[in-house]
Amino acid sequence: MDFWQIRGGRRLSGSCEVQGSKNAALPILAASIVCPCRVELLHVPQLSDVDTALAILRALGCQTKREGERVWIDSRTLTHSEISHKLMARMRSSVFFLGALTARCGEALLSLPGGCQLGQRPIDLHLAALRKLGCEIDEAGDNIHCRSRELRGCELTLTFPSVGATENILLAACAARGETVLHGAAREPEIVALCRFLRALGADIVGAGSDTIRLRRFQAREYVRFAIPPDRIVSSTLCCAAAATGGDIVLKAVDPTEFSAVTDFLKAAGCVIIQNKHALRLRAPQQLRSAGALYTSPYPGFPTDAQPLLMAALLRARGTTRITETIFENRFRQVAALRRLGADITVRGCTAEIRGVRRLYGTEVTATDLRGGASMVLAGLCAEGETVVCDTGHITRGYESFDRVLQELGADVKWTAIGMRDSLSELPKG
Ligand code: UD1
Repeated sequence: MDFWQIRGGRRLSGSCEVQGSKNAALPILAASIVCPCRVELLHVPQLSDVDTALAILRALGCQTKREGERVWIDSRTLTHSEISHKLMARMRSSVFFLGALTARCGEALLSLPGGCQLGQRPIDLHLAALRKLGCEIDEAGDNIHCRSRELRGCELTLTFPSVGATENILLAACAARGETVLHGAAREPEIVALCRFLRALGADIVGAGSDTIRLRRFQAREYVRFAIPPDRIVSSTLCCAAAATGGDIVLKAVDPTEFSAVTDFLKAAGCVIIQNKHALRLRAPQQLRSAGALYTSPYPGFPTDAQPLLMAALLRARGTTRITETIFENRFRQVAALRRLGADITVRGCTAEIRGVRRLYGTEVTATDLRGGASMVLAGLCAEGETVVCDTGHITRGYESFDRVLQELGADVKWTAIGMRDSLSELPKG
């Protein structure tokens, strides 16, 4: 169990660099097996989900090495096409190995992925597209057996721009004969990053970042060196944390256009944003004002992952904010905990109404999921007294050294990991 102890009331200020993107790194790690090759990745975040992806690669027979934020993978030694249920259940992103293994081995044997419980999270779009590319797929309970003698490029249309389905299709299409044209593709920056990686690996891809992506052919290369881009959700988190505390921070080595949906909203709430191509400064007023209503939607809309974070930032804003979640049906799981801290939030269907309160009060809460847990830490930063967020490892799945990053910006945050069987009474004080 992890314990995050936060003493609220400190204004965040200073500058920091942002970790590599989790959601870009995970499909790229899976992509390292689409052909036998050696891959060197830079700026890989040190996260438990990345550890899981490396464990899966090793279980498949690949060699992996990690030194700080560098990772080396040699996928020439891959021997297996099966992933154990235990590894699959550790994270949602294990699903990328479905497309990657099918491309490499013509077969993948795995089970439904785990991950944050944000709703049903089916993978029907992934499976339908793989079938169209020529896979035979047997589903028995949680197990999936995907086989293909020959993958054939074709025209595919996604009825919803699913990020994961787009990534799985691109991975499988690397081994397809002929051109694959994907209409209705997701446009997230992580898709662009994956396409840049696949291009370096030998794919002829055009259209990344638009809703039609064409993968014309794939001529495998033997070695690729690639830097993982900065994490736009971590950038959004730090902006929301600064906004919540009346802070003034600079994020270096980021692409501010990738999270402008979040900073535009913070601007409307009263923050001053100054940005260039590679850095952003956010200066927040003492009190934010409500910025009206917001809907989450696929990129370039407001990211669902930043929704709990923005909610935390607006708990003490003047006026009422309405947030409508359109991507996941169960993404207000943080609300009960935020209410325990004194927030005034009502949820009706997929809309949460946040009426700003004057004060939040520290108490003990439990993280429900990755971004929900981070939103509780943010609320703790602007609550009076001490907040303790108890967590079974959600936050460290997505944030690297979150305690240190916040401390360097002036926050009073302490992270303690103790064995699951230890009780809260053993939580170190101070
Ligand atoms: C990815 C991100 C996650 C983010 C989400 C939306 C990673 C590792 N995770 O998740 O952080 O919150 O995008 O931006 O990159 N859906 C189906 N059938 C499918 C696939 C998806 O109905 O086959 C639905 C989902 O249930 C959900 C919606 O489509 O309601 C969006 O899902 P998707 O874009 O696929 O998200 P993920 O790839 O799971």
